[in-house]
Order: sequence, then C-alpha cells, then structure tokens
Amino acid sequence: MSAQEKNNKLEALASLCKRRGFIFQTSEIYGGLNGFWDYGPLGAELKRNIKDAWWKAMVHEREDIVGLDSAIIQHPRTWEASGHLEGFTDPMVDCKACKKRFRADQFCEEQGLKLECDANKKPLLPAGAKCPACGSKDITPPRAFNLMFKTYVGPQEDTSTLAFLRPETAQGIFAQYNNVLACARVKVPFGIAQIGKAFRNEINPRNYTFRSREFEQMELEFFVKPGTDAEWHEYWVAERLKWYSRIGLPEGHLHRYVYGKDELAHYASACVDVLYDFPFGTQELEGIAARGDFDLGRHQQFSGKSMEYFDQDTKEKFVPHVVEPSAGTDRIALALLCEAFHEEWVPTSDVAGAQPIPVDYDNPKQPQGHELRTVLRFAPCIAPIKVAVFPLLKNKPDLVTKARGVYDTLRKRWSAFWDVAGAIGRRYRRQDEIGTPFGVTVDFQTLEDDTVTLRERDSMQQVRVKIGELPERLSAAIG
Ligand code: GAP
Repeated sequence: MSAQEKNNKLEALASLCKRRGFIFQTSEIYGGLNGFWDYGPLGAELKRNIKDAWWKAMVHEREDIVGLDSAIIQHPRTWEASGHLEGFTDPMVDCKACKKRFRADQFCEEQGLKLECDANKKPLLPAGAKCPACGSKDITPPRAFNLMFKTYVGPQEDTSTLAFLRPETAQGIFAQYNNVLACARVKVPFGIAQIGKAFRNEINPRNYTFRSREFEQMELEFFVKPGTDAEWHEYWVAERLKWYSRIGLPEGHLHRYVYGKDELAHYASACVDVLYDFPFGTQELEGIAARGDFDLGRHQQFSGKSMEYFDQDTKEKFVPHVVEPSAGTDRIALALLCEAFHEEWVPTSDVAGAQPIPVDYDNPKQPQGHELRTVLRFAPCIAPIKVAVFPLLKNKPDLVTKARGVYDTLRKRWSAFWDVAGAIGRRYRRQDEIGTPFGVTVDFQTLEDDTVTLRERDSMQQVRVKIGELPERLSAAIG
C-alpha cells in the first residue's frame, strides 16, 4: 500500500471513529485541545474490553500478580527518586522566525537528518536543519523540556505545594511495594499490576491518538530475585506477544525492537519494544524492560524505608529486581481499530459466501452491482457490541415482542444492541461498521418454530438456530 493510500485509509478510519462514536476530539465545541481525546459510547466499550482482557490475563488468570489503583498525584519526592524531575525531558527547538516549536529529534528526522550530540552528550542540531513550517534556518539550539504537567496541592501556589500529574503509573507501584508485600500473600517472584491515566506534556502530539498528552497505561512491575532477570524478561516478552495475538493483533503485523547495549538506560539489562505496523509507520505499543533494582533502590534511598525482601527459602535478603511490561491502552485501541478496519465492495444484496473486493484507496471506483461495506473485524472479545437483535419488521407487534425477549435474554450476558429501524440489510451494515460479530434476526418462521437467523459478520453466513441454542453458540465464539 502506498503512503498516500495508508493516509487515505487512516482518514477514512478517523471519520468512521467520529461518526460512529469511537473517538472524538476533546472539547470539540471549543475548537479542540491538541493532544487530548474523548472516547464515545463505542470507544469507551472498546477501551474497557482491552483493559478487562489485560487485567484478566495479568491478574485474574494468575496467582503471582495482584492489582493496585494508586493516586495520579503522588508525593513530589516520588519524581525526584524516579529521576523524572531531572531527566524526563525531550529536546525542544524553536524557529526564531515563525515562533513554531518542535521536538528536536522529530524536527531532524522529518528532514532526513539525525540529532547529534556534543562531547557532553548534549543534543546538537546538525548543519542544514531548517524550519519545516517557514524554511528559516534561524533555529534555537535544543533545550531540555520537562514533560511533567505541574499543579499545586491546596490553595497556596508556591514551590512548597508544587506537585505533578504522574507521567507513568509505575511509580505508584514502587511506592506501595512494602504495603502490598505486607498484605498480599505473595512471594518473590511476584507482580503488581496497575491500569490508569498518565500525563505527558508532549511537545508535538501527533498521529491521531498515538502520541497524546493524556493517555492510559497498563503496567506490570514484576519483582524477581537478582540474577533471574534475563529469564523473566524473555518470559514476559513471549507472554505479552501471545496476549496481543489473543486480542486480534496478528504476529505478522507486530515486531520486536531489541535495544542494543549502548541504547539501554544505565541501570537496565535488557529492553524490548513491541511495535505495530500503523498506517503512519511501525511504532511502539509497549516496552518490556529489565530495570534491575534501580526503582526500589532509589525509593529506598529517598524515603529511608527499607525495600529489602527476606527470602524464607534461601534465608537471603535482597532488593528485588524488576521486569516491567508497560503498555499504552490508547495505542492498543488505535492498533486494534487499524487492524480491524476494512472497506470492501460487496454485491448489492447480502449474498452469503460472496467474495468481497477490497477497496483500492488509490482508485476507489465502485464496481458495478456492488456497494461499499465498511467492517471492523474485531476479535469477539474486543468488539464493543457482541450481538445485535433485529425484528424483521418493526410494525408487527408479534415479531417485536418475540425479538425483545431474545434481546433481554442476551443482554444479561453480553453487550447487545437493539435495532428496529430500516431494511434488514442496512441494519446488518450498521453493525458491520461498528464490528458487532453476530446479528440475530427474528422473522415469521420464528413465531412458528422458535428458530432465528444467526448472521456472522466476517463471512456474512446466515444459519438457522433454535433460540435456546443461542447462548451456547455465542459463548463458544465470544467467551
Ligand atoms: N513505566 C515505563 C514507561 O512509562 P514508556 O515507554 O515511556 O515506559 C509505556 O511508556 C507505554 O505508554 C508506551 O509503550 C506507550 O504505549 C504508552 N505511551 C507513552 N507515551 C504515550 C503518549 N504520549 N501517548 C500515548 N501513549 C503513550
């Protein structure tokens, strides 16, 4: 697919997301706010399903991981200990002519240049760099910009009340490590998992929701015995890749980026990023890092509280090492939307088994006798709505009552949708567009033999099924 085609596809997806209520610009009525997004009714369901799938795999299905829900605003010393106050910066440059501000590495990359470093490892603009907006070469040298959002706690606004919105959820976990250890019946190796909002004052938010200023993280801090870091790191990379394929991101569109020794933070022994082929490039969904005892060690130093663990089996004391799989919920939501989104030409009537023709975005011409079908091919566990129920005709009370009974039964268990409006083919298309894997139609035959039509989204196959068999059939596919 050409770059233009990918761009067109992303635009078509963003338009669908707005039209059908997945993603809206924040405060759109006031012109929006760059780097902030809202999730509409379907987007909220989608994100909830991603977080549920993560929590299920990381906490409920395991005995060695417990959950935590820590505050967004932590004691400011947290960020001194973690190193964020000093080092959580991006290099920034300003164009002196047009006053536009850029992240220095992206500024260079976009011109096919590489941000250089001087002898003190300070970033340096390469010769030839110019403003992409106005072409001026009058650019400031790169300056460090701290990405943490600031706020004040209480009514006084001075340095004594200065606080920060957390730039990652991880530090809340480290700060509560001792309390969790004391209350949960866990032994090293064990993990603490957390899902929650994080905030970064990104210099250039971009690529739709990919780089935002407010986003959600799903982080696990897995505490291990020193010396076992490498095997646990390998284990978690493999586990996380399996999870991605379970939620519908195929191996073929995922990549691992293994950090070289010279790219690692000084305390880390390994780091692998999981990348996805987004339309705007292959980009990070999650980082899995072996961070040694850096975090617990620093909190021990800054708080004066021991973070040592006494191993009952070996009678040894140590500060556990950490392996950290850290994923972004919003990036996963975007990857799932990109992966699921298909536009195809299908025969005008809903012909079972007909082969759809994928839309060519360079030449979106409609083949004769075909209409456009937009479909989100979500894995059933991720789909916002699992099943839609339709009475064939809305003005036949017998059909409507019968269908309503089916709907009431199904929605006790799954997110279900009720739709009586328009021709049945149109109703199917509306559900295809939001990724509903199953449609159930109640027609006149239903009144005679208690069977309904069960339609499957991807194949468009329709089968007749007894109403009583619906829950079993759906649960086999949805879970
Ligand atoms: N505790 C480790 C940590 O925060 P990170 O690589 O900075 O590591 C982890 O962030 C994940 O959070 C990323 O892989 C990405 O999915 C998500 N993330 C980070 N910055 C983001 C942003 N500005 N917008 C959306 N997601 C972001």
